[in-house]
Amino acid sequence: MTNTIYVLNGPNLNLLGMREPEIYGTDTLDDIAGMLEDRGRELGLEIDMRQSNHEGHLVDWLHEAQAEGAKAVLLNAGAYTHTSIALHDAIKSIRTPVIEVHLSDPETREPFRHVSYVGMAAMDCVKGLGARSYVVALEKAAAL
Ligand code: DQA
Repeated sequence: MTNTIYVLNGPNLNLLGMREPEIYGTDTLDDIAGMLEDRGRELGLEIDMRQSNHEGHLVDWLHEAQAEGAKAVLLNAGAYTHTSIALHDAIKSIRTPVIEVHLSDPETREPFRHVSYVGMAAMDCVKGLGARSYVVALEKAAAL
């Protein structure tokens, strides 16, 4: 196993910073990557941060995380969280631990966000802390 943490981000998260800042805050995905790099250095972890608007890329990267011996995956699947049986199955298909991450708390929002197919397969979840959700999830991954 390596000391690399894959941080996989799904659709629309490339627009963080300008996307509904009242819900998601003003940090960009690059800002979050910087926070994770800083905390990762302290924890002795490498960060491999990626974003795609395409479901299949996220499936491929989950497979890759296992093939490359990643220590863990932090997964903010965006709206695919609530729709994707393919991501649910991919998480269950690998032994690499996956921690679900959300900036907002989907369970306090619209009813269609209350179901998480990712959460039914992931080992843990950090949500509702804004950009800090990612840092707390990284700290959990470090302790695995
Ligand atoms: C999100 C929550 C999802 O419901 C939403 O579709 C997103 C972002 C979050 O980080 O709070 O795209 O995953």
